[in-house]
Amino acid sequence: MSTQHKRVALVTGANRGIGYEIARQLAKKGLRVIIGSRDAEKGAQSGMKLVDEGLDVRSIRVDVTDGASITAAVGWIEDEFGRLDILVNNAGIMIDSGCDILDLPLAQLRNTLETNSFGPLLLSQICVPVMRKNDYGRIVNIASILGSLSDIANPDSAHADMQSPAYRLSKSMVNGITALLARELQGENILVNSVCPGWVRTDLGGPQAPVAPEEAAKTPVWLATLDETGPSGGFFRGSQPLCW
Ligand SMILES: NC(=O)c1ccc[n+]([C@@H]2O[C@H](COP(=O)([O-])OP(=O)(O)OC[C@H]3O[C@@H](n4cnc5c(N)ncnc54)[C@H](OP(=O)(O)O)[C@@H]3O)[C@@H](O)[C@H]2O)c1
Repeated sequence: MSTQHKRVALVTGANRGIGYEIARQLAKKGLRVIIGSRDAEKGAQSGMKLVDEGLDVRSIRVDVTDGASITAAVGWIEDEFGRLDILVNNAGIMIDSGCDILDLPLAQLRNTLETNSFGPLLLSQICVPVMRKNDYGRIVNIASILGSLSDIANPDSAHADMQSPAYRLSKSMVNGITALLARELQGENILVNSVCPGWVRTDLGGPQAPVAPEEAAKTPVWLATLDETGPSGGFFRGSQPLCW
C-alpha cells in the first residue's frame, strides 16, 4: 500500500496501558497509527518510543471528554493524511472502586460516563462521516465483562463481589452504543464491535492482574483489522463472543 493509501488508525488513551500496546501492534501490521492522548507531551513521548522501533506512529492531543479537542484532532488527521479508517475507543477510567450503588455519588457516575461512554459515542459520531468517504471503517470499543448485564445479574458470577457501579454502568452503556451503531451502519463497510480485554496488568487493572497488555491487545487488534466479512455488533473476549 502506498503512503497515501495506508490505513490510518486513531487509538484514544494510547499513551500507556492497553491502548499503547494496541497502537504498537496495529503499527506493526503496517498501519499508520495516531496515539490519542489527553496530555500532548505524554502522547508525544509514547509516540517517539514507537517511532524508535521503526513504526509509523504520530500523536495528537485528544481529551475524550472535550468535544472541541476531538473535532480538532479528527480534523488534523483528515488534513494531514486524507483519511481515517480505524477508531479504537480505549480511553477509560475507574474512579468508584469499592463504592456500592446505594452510595454512588451521581457526580462520580457523570464523570465516569463522560469518559467511558459519551467519549466513544462522540468520537464515533465525528469519525463515521470521515470513514464513509472511503467506504471503510472499523470501530472497536474497549468495554469489559463488568458491563455485561448477564454477568451483573448472575449471583454466581466470579465478579459478583465487584462493586464499581459507575464503571460497570458505563461499560454497559458502551456496549449499547456498539449495538446501536452496528445496527445504524448495517450494510456499510463500517464494522463496530466491543471487546473485553480480560483483567490486565495496567495502572487501572493493578499489578496482580493475570493478563499482560501484549496479550490483551490481540482481540482489539483483530477487530480493528477485520475484513468486510467480519462480524459487527458483537462483544468479544479472546475472539470468542460474550453475552451482553
Ligand atoms: N486493565 C484492565 O483490567 C481492564 C479490564 C477491562 C477493560 N479495561 C478497559 O481498557 C481500557 C484501557 O485501560 P487500561 O487498563 O490500559 O488503563 P490505564 O493504564 O489506566 O490507561 C487509561 C488510559 O486512558 C486515558 N484517559 C483517561 N481519561 C481520558 C480522557 N478524558 N481523555 C483521553 N484519555 C483518557 C489515560 O490517559 P492519562 O495517562 O492522561 O491518564 C490512559 O492513557 C479502558 O477503557 C478500561 O476500562 C481494562
